[in-house]
Amino acid sequence: MKADERGTTASSAKTKGSASRPKNNERFRERLARHHDELRWLYMELYDNGDMFAELCEQMRAFFDARPADLKQLDAEREAEGAWYRKRDMLGMQMYIDNFAGTIKGVEEHLDYLKRCHVNYVHLMPFLDTPADKSRSDGGYAVADFRRVRPDLGTMDDLAHLARTCHAQGISLCMDFVMNHTSEDHEWARRARAGEGEYMSRYFFERNQAVIDQYTRDVPQVFPTTAPGHYTYLPELGQSVMTQFYPYQWDLNYRNPRVFNEMMYNFLYLANQGMDIIRIDAVPYIWKELGTNCRNLPQVHTIVRMMRMIGEIVCPGIVLLGEVVMEPKEVAPYFGTPEKPECHMLYNVTTMATTWHTVATRDTRLLRRQMEAVCALPRTYTFLNYLRCHDDIGWGLDYPTLSAWGMEEVPHKKYLNDYFLGIVAGSDSRGALYNDDPTTGDARFCGTTASMCGVEAAGFEGDDDKLAWALQKDIMLHAYLLTQSGLPIIYSGDEVGQVNDYSYRDDPERADDSRYIHRGKFPWELVDAIDDADSVPHRLFEALSDLEDIRREEPVFGAEATVRVCDADDPALLWIERALGEEVLVAVFNFSDEGKTVTLPAAPAYTDLVTGVTEAVETVDMCGWDFMWMKRA
Ligand code: GLC
Repeated sequence: MKADERGTTASSAKTKGSASRPKNNERFRERLARHHDELRWLYMELYDNGDMFAELCEQMRAFFDARPADLKQLDAEREAEGAWYRKRDMLGMQMYIDNFAGTIKGVEEHLDYLKRCHVNYVHLMPFLDTPADKSRSDGGYAVADFRRVRPDLGTMDDLAHLARTCHAQGISLCMDFVMNHTSEDHEWARRARAGEGEYMSRYFFERNQAVIDQYTRDVPQVFPTTAPGHYTYLPELGQSVMTQFYPYQWDLNYRNPRVFNEMMYNFLYLANQGMDIIRIDAVPYIWKELGTNCRNLPQVHTIVRMMRMIGEIVCPGIVLLGEVVMEPKEVAPYFGTPEKPECHMLYNVTTMATTWHTVATRDTRLLRRQMEAVCALPRTYTFLNYLRCHDDIGWGLDYPTLSAWGMEEVPHKKYLNDYFLGIVAGSDSRGALYNDDPTTGDARFCGTTASMCGVEAAGFEGDDDKLAWALQKDIMLHAYLLTQSGLPIIYSGDEVGQVNDYSYRDDPERADDSRYIHRGKFPWELVDAIDDADSVPHRLFEALSDLEDIRREEPVFGAEATVRVCDADDPALLWIERALGEEVLVAVFNFSDEGKTVTLPAAPAYTDLVTGVTEAVETVDMCGWDFMWMKRA
């Protein structure tokens, strides 16, 4: 099937097969009826523009008509099934198409490897058209055309083909929808730069330096070192354009209903190519209001709620994943309420950062508090859990609590960064700082899981003992990841112990962005080594596979389980209990170098899920960085 047939343009959409038309009509009408009043209410509240709302409804209908039959079928199945993305057999992987397999076709040729990894959710990092010059693409997050694939990666047809092949094998695809900004090369930006008012109104242009200064004062910096400031001056126009991220990423103006409508059409177009999960990038930033910090404003929630309804009307099988890298109290509101849901899924960013804090401090108290906060949320909230992703680790921790324990924000961040740079005694971590801001003393951190656990240093030094510790830590962290409720995502390469890639430092287009340290080419030679029993890839890959098998097979890992965090009476130990019906799993993690003896709650017997042995046990001896998964028999 050609991309055209999958609904390239809504206007060219035709409903095929007259027999299915009445049923389809009915389905669309029923979904629209369910949401129409609320959608119209919110739209009018924001835009007060009935004509544009009518256009939106017409286009929703056209995209629905253009939606291929196989995707409509999948929608119906998923609607009947409910929250399909919450099943405990879900395992995700996040990857760059070019690093992993060169092109989209290449990814399709390597699906057997993904199957071998048990992966059934693949996040393909930004692949839409972006400037070829890497110093103007932000790793693809500067989109020049929302309906064109980056030519070196393939075509929209290749993408739709991959989606169909994946669906046939039970794999779903996630893509980024970068809705806060476009590349300066996007047609709208080019026309705005040429002075066309219609297109200038899609961005924020400003001549008044006082306004620019006020934004600078009130709004925090995204990239304080690599891209300071919120506006970029355009000499040809004698004014500045808002660029909260890089100067080549122009912030879209969602006060303009044309921007909202067109971006929704882009979203529906991409959904019609077979995308299952739409990651809404940098969503807290999409509404700007002078005099505020321009983050998480109420209008952002209105827009996400409208997007959720639009999705449920046209393509209810798809999932909205919100990228909300914010302090914990700002994150949960993006789930909306049970009656008015917004995102289906959110990143568990604070847990991720707190996990690494725990590695560096060997003190699980903060992680325990964080897990308690997550466990107190409604169980229907689904988090995407991860250890590493394509971005840096920002040390967004609960500083009021840390401060009460004697750890102040600035020195603590410095300690964490020093620890992971490997310059603190006892640390074998390796990596690089990111956006080191001398004025605030703030810096974030980059590196792969393996390098941060010490695999790189041990390999370099040829120290087998160190390597064993590093692998132990790496495996334990993955076990912890898999113990949490929600969708676990492996960062491609972590499953075979991929270490940092320093080559970005020699490439002028990437040298300024240390996030490239963990965006190296996928090391296929490590995959070849999986069968070699002594190798790092073998030890890691097999251990993770076993853990993933257990998670898939044991109902107690399901989203319905009750999770509680217990006091282990030792700050180095994190103790989690998952209960479902009669089943109870005791999961304990040792975040220290020292061995520990743990007394289990009295029970006739326990099954060690890792060894499969069932016996009467009272105490368990754990070595440093060890974990246990004991199920009460
Ligand atoms: C998101 C992406 C990040 C990118 C930014 C700007 O935060 O994860 O990589 O730089 O958006 O689009």
